Amino acid sequence: MCSVHLHGDATTTVLQSQLHVPAEVMVAETAQELFLFIAKRIEDFLKTYHQSALELAEKDSAHPFFSLGFTFSFPAYQTAVNAGILLRWTKGFDIPGVVNQDVCVLLQTEIDRLGLPIKVTALVNDAMGTIMSRAYSLPISHERPVVGAIFGTGTNGVYMEHLQAVSKHLDGAFDSSSGRMFMSTEWGSFDNKLSVLPVTPYDTELDRNSVNPGNQMFEKRISGMFLGELLRLAVLELYGDGSLQLFRNGLPSDVQEANSEGAKLKQSWSVNSSVLSVAQADTTDTLLPLRKKISETFEIPEERITVEDAQAIKVIAFAIGKRAARLAGMAIGSVILQGQLLVSEGSGVQVDKKVDVAVDGSVVEHYPGFETYMREALQAMDGIGKEGEARIVVGHTKDGSSVGAAIVALLAAQQVAPNTRHL
Ligand code: BGC
Repeated sequence: MCSVHLHGDATTTVLQSQLHVPAEVMVAETAQELFLFIAKRIEDFLKTYHQSALELAEKDSAHPFFSLGFTFSFPAYQTAVNAGILLRWTKGFDIPGVVNQDVCVLLQTEIDRLGLPIKVTALVNDAMGTIMSRAYSLPISHERPVVGAIFGTGTNGVYMEHLQAVSKHLDGAFDSSSGRMFMSTEWGSFDNKLSVLPVTPYDTELDRNSVNPGNQMFEKRISGMFLGELLRLAVLELYGDGSLQLFRNGLPSDVQEANSEGAKLKQSWSVNSSVLSVAQADTTDTLLPLRKKISETFEIPEERITVEDAQAIKVIAFAIGKRAARLAGMAIGSVILQGQLLVSEGSGVQVDKKVDVAVDGSVVEHYPGFETYMREALQAMDGIGKEGEARIVVGHTKDGSSVGAAIVALLAAQQVAPNTRHL
């Protein structure tokens, strides 16, 4: 959660507090539990950072309200800048009574219940926010971003499309004068039927144990919420095969492990994907950093983890990470081709035209070499190749989605009520 001061010169001042949605709220029984939870955190935030404005607003009902850009990182059918219905939950959320509802209305209701001086003026997907934030921060002379992609807990991509290529009916009023529109692809659910995506037994099991089996199949191979779980399932299988001696370190096979040993290895969804980044980053001979991480991650005593064990886990983690990065590159390449973004208007292919791609998310930020493997995939794609790949600029836009939401909130609020503060 943050408040953003846009200085108007590509810079910002951001006041931020981390908001983690507890596991029980992700599967709350009612929509109100989630939206009241968010509204209460907004109230805490205002009390911490904007107490005086809050007091003024409490005394004077004509005091300007704060304008809130709601970064909502789930598939929504958006018919206005401040209206959108949830199409389906992803990333482990599963709360009844929200699908098909306008999430701006649900949040506004809880904000009003607490009497906060806030209006939800914009609903912004995180991938779109990332584009906006990068566009704001770049010098005017720089190519504008035309693709935004998130590779974090979940994944999604937004790209600039020609309106004439859109065959679907678009509800709501919009300005069509540029002939272009940003489209949120929700590529996380690409190929849910698995006609082309790679499938391992671990993918199948992960999907079976998820809250949304058969959905978000692309996301389940790419994003941070799932990569650790894929590794856990693969390692658990090796651990279960006594002949492989994984995590035994020479102990005779009749020595019983303590009950608590490997508790996290045996527990679904307990493994954070950061272990993959450590595995990739550790190039030491002894693999001590990785062995320590494996010990913490799976709750295996450190002295049980040999170099060979760590090497085996490194190989598996690399296969999972590289596959994710290559699929991510394929997704970016596909929207570039679909939007004809390597082609200049009117004049065919212009060799020096750059295609700017704004990216954000923990996986692309922390997994060493993610961009390199993404680029390998782009080079291998028909229609892009080495030349096209060299023209693609990948701009890491850390925490871009929140700044982007603030920018959209500002623009939206200026259209309806010039006298607002922006949150
Ligand atoms: C959601 C997208 C979101 C992405 C990244 C996916 O699970 O469906 O809307 O942009 O995660 O957060």
